[in-house]
Amino acid sequence: MEDRSAIKQHLSVDHLLGIKYINKDDINLIFSTADKFKEILNRPIKKVPSLRDITVANLFFENSTRTRISFELAEKRLGADVVNFSASSSSLKKGETLVDTVNNILAMKVDMIVMRHPNPGSCLFLSKHIDVSIINAGDGAHEHPTQALLDTYSIREALGDVKNKKVVIIGDILHSRVALSNIFCLQKLGAEVMVCGPTTLIPKYIASLGVKVESNLKKALEWCDVANMLRIQLERQEIAYFPSLREYAMLYGVNKELLNGLNKEITIMHPGPINRGVEITSDVADSKQSIILDQVENGVAVRMAILYLLAGKIKRGES
Ligand code: CP
Repeated sequence: MEDRSAIKQHLSVDHLLGIKYINKDDINLIFSTADKFKEILNRPIKKVPSLRDITVANLFFENSTRTRISFELAEKRLGADVVNFSASSSSLKKGETLVDTVNNILAMKVDMIVMRHPNPGSCLFLSKHIDVSIINAGDGAHEHPTQALLDTYSIREALGDVKNKKVVIIGDILHSRVALSNIFCLQKLGAEVMVCGPTTLIPKYIASLGVKVESNLKKALEWCDVANMLRIQLERQEIAYFPSLREYAMLYGVNKELLNGLNKEITIMHPGPINRGVEITSDVADSKQSIILDQVENGVAVRMAILYLLAGKIKRGES
């Protein structure tokens, strides 16, 4: 890839706080840049020196497998120096504030922050108190923009285009940051979006976002080209929203029998981690209709693109 200061097209934002704050041109620029990184990732030598003078801190105040490893690999494959922080072993336990913690890390000449935090709006809050770029790696039940970008990139790869495709997001919409970011991203690229799940797990405001709402799983699957299954987020549920996981699986779990009853083959997605036998059975998760591991693979290229494009602003002194 070219020197960052030579990047001709720019993102309209200094941070990636949410899909709500970026536009269609930003998304298409991220995708075309990710295409180039995906090609590099398939070479025997997967590294480029584009971020060799940049230090990135990955701040994870909440558990993660995919997102944390994907960002770290993306940063290292761009040649960046990487420092990883986990809340459980930090001085936050001694009463230090988030802003003080991050400013202390930045004092060690860190250039960019990737942050996952349980509080919605935490990345937006932090962006007003520090002067480096922040990438939101998931803030509570608010947004998970890099997940939505890799999901939508994977739909574009599997189906050729996103425009006019029908995508249903199934499951725990109420507690999901993936759902909101996916809705914004898919709509910005011209897809039709439906949500499907138990009424108790569908937020009342959702129809005002211009999405269809369906409580019958079979009808939702008959409508869609793509089904994106979500995990039941028990860790964010303070009350019981349905009688039992067994009942949830009977009404909203996608299995091979349901898919075989459709008169078309739909694409199956899941952001992970999956709960086999609850929202998805193994014969669906591991079928050729499933692009779950393609999503994970594409996540590295998409995150490399975001890091590269935001780092270009540092070089030009814009951030
Ligand atoms: N999809 C996702 O965010 O997974 P992790 O929680 O493992 O990062």
